[in-house]
Amino acid sequence: MDVTLKVYRFNPNEDEKPHYEKYTLILRDDAVLLDALNEIKWKFDGSLSYRRSCRHGICGSCAVKLNGKNVLACKTPLKKAIEDFGDVLIVEPLSKNKEKIIKDLVIDKKDFWDKNKKVKPYLIANIDEHPEKENLIKPEEVEKLEDADYCIACGCCYYACESIRANKDFLGPQALAKTYRFTADGRDEAKKERLEFVDKLGIGVWDCVKCQACIEVCPKGVDPFTKITHLHNQIFEEGVAKKNVATKHAEGFVHSIKKHGILDEGMLVLYSEGVNVARHLPEAMEMLKKGKIKFPWNMPKSEGVEEIKKLVEISQTHELKG
Ligand code: SF4
Ligand code: SF4
Ligand code: FES
Repeated sequence: MDVTLKVYRFNPNEDEKPHYEKYTLILRDDAVLLDALNEIKWKFDGSLSYRRSCRHGICGSCAVKLNGKNVLACKTPLKKAIEDFGDVLIVEPLSKNKEKIIKDLVIDKKDFWDKNKKVKPYLIANIDEHPEKENLIKPEEVEKLEDADYCIACGCCYYACESIRANKDFLGPQALAKTYRFTADGRDEAKKERLEFVDKLGIGVWDCVKCQACIEVCPKGVDPFTKITHLHNQIFEEGVAKKNVATKHAEGFVHSIKKHGILDEGMLVLYSEGVNVARHLPEAMEMLKKGKIKFPWNMPKSEGVEEIKKLVEISQTHELKG
């Protein structure tokens, strides 16, 4: 199989700016992207830098960007990549922020690891460190983790997250999925403390913009976005939620659906922001002009609004799982 790759090259110690090198290779039909990078390094250019270790999708070190999508190089068949992206495969580091580039495809993931560390990614429990037998938990307890413990810390989700682009303090999908890994574990004794931490505005769950990019790129099926949704629920269930713009937004959402059966965008902002709503006036005027929001007296109601209201009330009185 003929494969053409354009690979991002940048040595901050020598180069003024990054450039792309083109390589045309002949590889086996079942080759993966990591085989192509190895071929380049071993046969054409030993100076190419990238990370790799296990070659089996376990260590998380070989994550790169392929034609704009974050992937594990060792789990990406080239044949499928060519079908998806066309004849020229563009390989780049997870982040092209020049300050993060160590060399070529290798980036400094300190920000990622710092956030992972902040959520204390280990069981906090008073357990015997030298037990005589295994400390087993029931299969139904393991199911509650919903694959959150499959995370290999590759960073694919973190460097695809839209919220982190806008807010460097946001903990991000990996650290939040990791938090859920422990708040869902019946043996962990720090559930409330963990929830209080991720409830904080600016860093926690409320700053996820629900773009779902983290689901799309995760090579292990962790689905961080759904774990974040479970954390929202746990924050309310455990009585951790404080009155803030984010929790009022969630309450306003429910209020609007019960009243109209559909979302009243204008009232939602008023509900969430209270008197601070005045700072959104310019946007509100634009939205009014384009029909995106309505005056309260013009707000339509969905068909079957009474039934929708009943459904919301039933969901509010039933225990939330997760
Ligand atoms: S859904 Fe949330 S956590 Fe996931 S990538 Fe989007 S903003 Fe980030
Ligand atoms: S959640 Fe998935 S994408 Fe994110 S670091 Fe873990 S394994 Fe990688
Ligand atoms: S080399 Fe370990 S996950 Fe790819």
